Amino acid sequence: MSKLWGGRFTKPTNKLVEEYTSSISFDQKLAVQDIKGSLAHVEMLSHCEIISNEEKNQIIRGLHTIQGKIEKGEVEYSIADEDIHMNIEKLLIEEIGPVGGKLHTGRSRNDQVATDMHLYLREKTEEIITLVEAVQDALLSQAESNVETILPGYTHLQRAQPVSFGHHLLAYFWMFERDKERLQDSLKRINWSPLGAAALAGTPYEIDRQMTADILGFEKVYPNSLDAVSDRDFILEFLSISSILITHISRISEELILWSSQEFNFIELDDEFCTGSSIMPQKKNPDVPELLRGKTGRIYGNLMGMLTLLKGLPLAYNKDMQEDKVGMFDTADTLEGALSLLAPMLASMDVKVGEMKKAVKEDYSNATDIADYLAVKGLPFREAHEVIGKIVLYAIGQEKYLLDLSLNEYRKFSDQFEEDIYEKLDPEQVVAARNSEGGTGFAQVYNQIQSAKNHLY
Ligand code: ARG
Repeated sequence: MSKLWGGRFTKPTNKLVEEYTSSISFDQKLAVQDIKGSLAHVEMLSHCEIISNEEKNQIIRGLHTIQGKIEKGEVEYSIADEDIHMNIEKLLIEEIGPVGGKLHTGRSRNDQVATDMHLYLREKTEEIITLVEAVQDALLSQAESNVETILPGYTHLQRAQPVSFGHHLLAYFWMFERDKERLQDSLKRINWSPLGAAALAGTPYEIDRQMTADILGFEKVYPNSLDAVSDRDFILEFLSISSILITHISRISEELILWSSQEFNFIELDDEFCTGSSIMPQKKNPDVPELLRGKTGRIYGNLMGMLTLLKGLPLAYNKDMQEDKVGMFDTADTLEGALSLLAPMLASMDVKVGEMKKAVKEDYSNATDIADYLAVKGLPFREAHEVIGKIVLYAIGQEKYLLDLSLNEYRKFSDQFEEDIYEKLDPEQVVAARNSEGGTGFAQVYNQIQSAKNHLY
């Protein structure tokens, strides 16, 4: 059989053009969605008496047969038939005869491909939400076991104030919570149905777009046919949300890499998630978080590619839009891979509670608390800050930490110091004291865990 659109042509397509314009090598990923859309369409055509009931049944049987063959890997797609839509239509006509040609009544590949992608992205978005929840679950259980594990908190990668490790992990929980909200919200727009917009202008057949939308589980019919076939915002949105999500994955990966270095030595990743070196026998490399961090580039790239693709495209469909698929597939697959690894890697990491604590004892991250101590006694905070700066400088000169200075030494800087300063400087105390809402104080972290659970379960 020649091309489905061959009637207008007198010459066959140049072979190079055929290869260059064909999308079957990648859009065959949409086969299931394409058949699903066709089944809904044909149901509606018969309901609206555009085709007979008998014709509908023949087409449905044919589509099921083709689906079965695709599942068994028995179908050979052809580049000459360009894309998944025409490949399936051709297979259908081969399977059931000319009546198969009635399937395409009242629609076009333009609304068909858009429908397929809405269906595909809905599925992927739902799967990704579930995977994000698995990461949140892993973070939450590690946080729960480590509320009272303290480690230095950093700003500028300089030790700042000690914090609860559970609190630190929960920071990521909330980032992923926002990602999940964004994904859920995007479903509202993914669930618009383009089917029946036809090529760009609608169709003279008396079709029922609401009916196909209902069958396919869409919440709304695109109110404008031009918009329906040329809108790719839902893909842009997915790529943007994915970019933010992979940023969070990359940031936590970076911390896992730092923490498992000998310099930090705060955690150890399970052997299952690390690899060795072919030359240095002592090495245990955090390849997985490194690769997660590295994957960020392609996800940002896919977003940039899509924005650039759409910028300046006139309405309605343009062949440029065929380029919307590879990046979308790649982002979905890359994210699924990343999230599937991140969850068990977090759940199985070993937290070196003692090393974290040691780190906190060997720094000046309790300095703010001495300033607060004087401020509570009435000294303006700014002046207290100045005094403590001098104390820190003095302590560094003496090669001592703040807890090692004697009361006499403290009193050289201010006569307000009393014996109770040592209690205030104890790192556990320092953390516990930060009991303001959302702070790292243990009581607050326990509250936060409860609230995180309420969001997740
Ligand atoms: N393979 C095409 C794509 O992915 C399907 C739509 C083609 N429509 C057209 N009028 N050429 O965009």
